Amino acid sequence: MTLRHFLRDDDLSPAEQTRLLDLAAELKAEPWSRRPLEGPQSVAMIFDKPTLRTQVSFGAGIAELGGNPMLVEGRLAGIGVRESVEDVARVLARQVSLVVWRTFFQADLDTMAAHAGVPVVNALTDDFHPCQLVADLLTVREHKGDLPGLTVAFVGDAACNMGNSWLLAGTTAGMHVRVAAPPGYQPTGAVLDRAAEIARETGGSATCFHEAEKAVAGADVVVTDTWISMGKESEEASRQAVFGAYALTSELLALAAPDAIAMHCLPAYRGKEIAAEVIDGPQSVVWDEAENRRHAQKAVMTFLLEASR
Ligand code: NVA
Repeated sequence: MTLRHFLRDDDLSPAEQTRLLDLAAELKAEPWSRRPLEGPQSVAMIFDKPTLRTQVSFGAGIAELGGNPMLVEGRLAGIGVRESVEDVARVLARQVSLVVWRTFFQADLDTMAAHAGVPVVNALTDDFHPCQLVADLLTVREHKGDLPGLTVAFVGDAACNMGNSWLLAGTTAGMHVRVAAPPGYQPTGAVLDRAAEIARETGGSATCFHEAEKAVAGADVVVTDTWISMGKESEEASRQAVFGAYALTSELLALAAPDAIAMHCLPAYRGKEIAAEVIDGPQSVVWDEAENRRHAQKAVMTFLLEASR
C-alpha cells in the first residue's frame, strides 16, 4: 500500500492529473456512481481560516461518496497550540478515513501527512490551493477543450497560493502559464524552477511578467484572485497601492483571445482585482468553477482512497 496525499499540485503526475480530471467529469455526470466512503466512513474537515465554498463542497461531496463529513472546529482543536500537529494526526487517523485541512503553513500540513496514516488533503495553505486548481482545470476543459497548449494568464498577487498553484498545475497540464505581478509579489524562484521543470516534461511553459498587458495578450484563459489573501489583512493599504495596474478590467480582458474565459476562485472584490462587468459578464466562468469544486474534490478523495488501499 502506498499512502497518497494531495498537499500541493505537483503531487499528481501529468498522467494522474488527466485521470483525475476524467474522474471529476465522470462524477459530475453521475454524482452517486462511486461510494469509496460507504459505511459511512468519516472525513475530518478542519478550517483554521475562513471558508464557504470549501466547507460546503467538501461536505456535500463526502456525503455523495457515501461518507460522513465531520467538521472539526479549528479553534477548539487548537492544532499546534493545545497539542502538537503530530499528536492530532495520530488521533484523527484512529477515527476517520481522510483528513481535509485548511491552514496557514505548508510545513504543518506536511507534518500532518507524515503522521496521519490516512490521506491528507490540502484545503488551502498560504502556499498552495490544489483542490481549486483541479476544479479550475475541469472548468477550462469544459469551456476550451484539451488543456495542453492553452495559454493562461494570472494577474495580480502571484506570490500567493493561487499564483503558485496555477504555475504547478497549469504546467502539469501542459499549459503555457504566464503570471504578471508587481515587484515583491512575484512567485519564488523555487516555485518558478519547479514549474519550469514540469513544463520541460509536458511541453508547457512558465513565464513571469511585470506588465499585465504582456501576460494577457492573446491568452485563452485570464485569472485573478484577491489582492489581500486570508492572513494578509494588515497589509491592505500597501497592497491596494501597488495592485491597481493589475485589475482584471474589460479593457485588459479585451487583449486576450476573443473567446477567452475569465476566472476567479472567489471571494471576489468587484472594483478591486476584478471589474463587476467582467465577473458578471459573458466571458466569466466563476460559478462553474465554484460548482466544480465538489466534483473535483470527490475525484481527489476517490483517487487518494483507491491509491492508498
Ligand atoms: N488567495 C486567496 C484564495 C481564496 C480562496 C486567499 O488565500 O485568501
